[in-house]
Amino acid sequence: MKISVIGCGYLGAVHAAAMASLGHEVVGVDVDASRVASLAAGLPPFYEPGLPELLRSGVERGALTFSTNLREAKGAAVHFVCVGTPQRPDGPGADLTFVDAAFTALHEIVAPGDVVVGKSTVPVGTAARLAAELAEAVPGAHLVWNPEFLREGFAVGDTLSPDRVVYGVDGAAPAATEALDAVYASVLAAGTPRIVTDFATAELVKVAANSFLATKISFINAMAELCETAGGDVVALADAIGHDERIGRRFLGAGLGFGGGCLPKDIRAFVARADELGAENAVAFLREVDAINLRRRARMVEVTEEVCGGSVAGRTIGVLGAAFKPESDDVRDSPALDVAATLAARGAHVVVADPQATANAAAVRPELRYTTNALEACRDADVVLLLTEWREFRELDPDDLGAVVHGRRMVDGRNVLDPARWRGAGWTYRALGRP
Ligand code: UDX
Repeated sequence: MKISVIGCGYLGAVHAAAMASLGHEVVGVDVDASRVASLAAGLPPFYEPGLPELLRSGVERGALTFSTNLREAKGAAVHFVCVGTPQRPDGPGADLTFVDAAFTALHEIVAPGDVVVGKSTVPVGTAARLAAELAEAVPGAHLVWNPEFLREGFAVGDTLSPDRVVYGVDGAAPAATEALDAVYASVLAAGTPRIVTDFATAELVKVAANSFLATKISFINAMAELCETAGGDVVALADAIGHDERIGRRFLGAGLGFGGGCLPKDIRAFVARADELGAENAVAFLREVDAINLRRRARMVEVTEEVCGGSVAGRTIGVLGAAFKPESDDVRDSPALDVAATLAARGAHVVVADPQATANAAAVRPELRYTTNALEACRDADVVLLLTEWREFRELDPDDLGAVVHGRRMVDGRNVLDPARWRGAGWTYRALGRP
């Protein structure tokens, strides 16, 4: 099938490359010329394991092209809209500027019978509005809302072998469902569950999933706060409750909390949308989820100050991690970078190590110093903070690191090091939610 993908950011670039790998002829369209040039040369403009190979293979076979000109999308039977919906600069709601611009532009090139597929995360009610506008502009064209659940770092696998696919349709358009079934034929043949529902449910599935995940993380971090007060160990607690299959151990990783381009802004936008709809009570708890999450960053700063004897002013601090999570170069709402910047603002000399995210980090926090090497970041440090659990940081040897630091003090913000091993090597070891 001929497919277009409008918006080649994180989601769109991965989606375009994945669809080409399924045998489709794909054109990716983006307004950013340098992004388009990079993708057309087979080079992703961001770090994502597995994507360079997939992209190169599609481009070399001629199955995958990129353009800044939306007219190239003309003639595609299915148009995927993958543009971003960031947090509004003036409030917690979602900014739909890019979605609206993409749909307005598509009205000019979509033909009757074409299917437009929304993948962006939008406030509930948006799909119904966009469907009405599309029906008026191009009678006979169809809209499906098909939310995306990919995780950064696992985006290729999550796209080609998703846990489920969800289609939001307006009931009267089997042609739309059939077209999407044809696009995902091999994914569905592998047994992927497919849920066909209405627009509102499809939109809500996405934010409900992210809200649940955020709540699970903040729940365990709330238990970490209690452990800190009462003297308990949140890691043992998580292990113990996680054995209950109804609870499960995944996403009970206590520590510095969640960040990134999705969970924080999606829960805020959900609360804002519920307020607009007069249903604020239903998701008021998400405000608490957000607050618990942000308190972990403050606690990390506080523990670091304690370890430094009350103040970090004039201290040298080695920070391990800038990305919001490992296997990503994304620093949007990164807890690690937030903590590093707060410590620097309080007078510490901070050097940040990250294997992939230093360029992005330097663009938003130019006041910090960066390196890709952990030992270099920790040279002469009074204290080391582990804030993003890259494998190379988890596997650091306490004596190798001990040889370069000024004082053997470690604050493990992700609960990934073995306290006994580090203490045994003469380190003062502190963590969040553990004695
Ligand atoms: C998330 C959703 O998982 C994905 O389904 C959705 O499509 C987009 O948002 P992503 O932002 O890539 O994906 O990251 P994820 O792996 O979910 O982690 C989010 C944040 O939670 C990270 O900052 C991570 O460090 C943190 N986290 C995760 C914890 O603090 N503890 C955990 O146990 C798990």
